[in-house]
Amino acid sequence: MGLRILGTGSALPARRVTNEELSGFLDTSDEWISQRTGIRARRVCTTETLDDLATQASRRALESAGVDASELGAVICTTTSPDHVMPAEASVVQGSIGASCPSFDLAAACAGFVFALDVADGIFARGRARRVLVVSAERCTRYLDWTDRATCVLFGDGAAAAVLGAEGEGLLSLRLSTQPDTGALDLPGIPGSSPFDKTVRGPQLFSMRGREIFKFGVTSIEREVRALAADAGMEVADIDHFVFHQANGRILDSAATRLGIDASRVVRTLAETGNLSSACIPHALDHLVRSGGLTAGQTVAIVGFGAGLSVGSCLIRWEEGAAGTGPALPHAAAKAPLT
Ligand code: ACO
Repeated sequence: MGLRILGTGSALPARRVTNEELSGFLDTSDEWISQRTGIRARRVCTTETLDDLATQASRRALESAGVDASELGAVICTTTSPDHVMPAEASVVQGSIGASCPSFDLAAACAGFVFALDVADGIFARGRARRVLVVSAERCTRYLDWTDRATCVLFGDGAAAAVLGAEGEGLLSLRLSTQPDTGALDLPGIPGSSPFDKTVRGPQLFSMRGREIFKFGVTSIEREVRALAADAGMEVADIDHFVFHQANGRILDSAATRLGIDASRVVRTLAETGNLSSACIPHALDHLVRSGGLTAGQTVAIVGFGAGLSVGSCLIRWEEGAAGTGPALPHAAAKAPLT
């Protein structure tokens, strides 16, 4: 499959909220959250908009790729928590970075980034573009029930992006699936105020069956990594890096144990960010690239899972000339709105 990641970038809001701070207004503790999830703190939007974060992450990815916005043939934003239902979040990003190409949003919850890679691969295969920007941007903290200790401690806000190129053979295998279940993870849409609406609606807040999702996450990761390795004619042990959805450190640990791989080979960013929904995977990938941990020729197995219930997984080979040659950028702070 002809696709290469040319550059990556991330942006997180400035405000860091620790577990101790949450225990000031919730019946919880740093000990419970750290031990059960591996999360110590998360970044939360205060003055930043999601438009700001998505734009900043996109600019950083373009800079690291050495690609000008005018070269982009499509901008795809994956999000379930946009600033706007219309226009697409991607259209706002496109305007801010100065691109002139089609732009649209894609909603596949936490698996969104991998779904977008598949769409981009199709765009390249049809010869419609040679450069595509995928930006995953989430502001989950806006829809959480901040009185529910079982869910609000898990999430944070952030955006991460990747610039993709049509050249190369960097995508070794890609798998998508959806197992429909609207109750396991649910966030109702805008209720509106139609005088004709007679439907009965619950609260407009995120809800989740946590234990069930935990098991779904572990079994999905194991199944997908084994299938990706088999598709590529490799052994799991031969894969160099593992980038999984950052929902819970114990999910990462259990998956590593089942796969028989050392937990140190599983990228772990959630301690300081919490769950960034679809932005988790590109953010973790950006972290791996900028920490210098990824070299040309190495392979990365990626698995995202979440509401749907959807799973997206892929195996990529990092190619010469891909991202990572630029200077490291801090994972902090869109401090002021960007123009
Ligand atoms: N602080 C203190 N106690 C808590 C907290 C908290 N923050 N949250 C729950 N508890 C309590 C519960 O009330 C319960 O108390 P009880 O025994 O008196 O009833 C006890 O802790 C155990 O609760 P469980 O839900 O069984 O705890 P568990 O160990 O399963 O951890 C968790 C819960 C962290 C949610 C875990 O199930 C999990 O991570 N699930 C997966 C979540 C996930 O993958 N989310 C991704 C969603 S996809 C997307 O990103 C949109």
